[in-house]
Amino acid sequence: TQPFTVAIDGPAAAGKGTISKAVAAHFGFAHLDTGLLYRAVGARMLTGEDPIRAAQNLVAEDLDNPDLRSADVAQAASKVAVIPEVRSALLDFQRAFARRAGGAVLDGRDIGTVICPQAEAKLFVTASAEVRAQRRFAELQERGADTDFDTVLADVNARDARDSSRADAPLAQAEDAVLIDTSDMTIDAAVAQAISAVEARR
Ligand code: C5P
Repeated sequence: TQPFTVAIDGPAAAGKGTISKAVAAHFGFAHLDTGLLYRAVGARMLTGEDPIRAAQNLVAEDLDNPDLRSADVAQAASKVAVIPEVRSALLDFQRAFARRAGGAVLDGRDIGTVICPQAEAKLFVTASAEVRAQRRFAELQERGADTDFDTVLADVNARDARDSSRADAPLAQAEDAVLIDTSDMTIDAAVAQAISAVEARR
């Protein structure tokens, strides 16, 4: 079957992951959470490795590291993500994944703008900072992390500021992306809206 790329971008904890998995399952497409690539590089930087070398030598096992979801690794990810050589080292892998036979969903910050500007369908998923921090806080609590709401909100804001202001591939809505604001939406409603937006491009 023909390649078909769905690009899903947006700020931290907006619901991109949940929506991407549901869209991929619905259409039978493969899914790549591109944030995991930056998190894996960030995790290797935290062990003292040079981030550019880490990005150039990333292997599949790096993505299985259970620590990738921690707040420390998230901040490290957004720090390595400002380095152009880190971004360029991860480019070919993402583009090849996007054009695989049978369709692909990629979620991140720059998929619709830089990685796959020709994507057949583009979504920009967002929500207010408070709502996103609340969701991330609930998720961290569920995993037993010792944190409080204000810390999570500050982390989310710091990461958004860094992601939006960097020179290379900043977080931005592509001109032709469909905007989905999930602030006042259930997960099911957001997923349904995403699926119909992709269906409209088929
Ligand atoms: O999506 P996630 O929160 O896992 O991403 C972690 C960090 O990786 C983001 O804050 C961002 O700095 C970076 N990232 C990026 N480009 C992407 C995906 C993630 O710069 N396509």
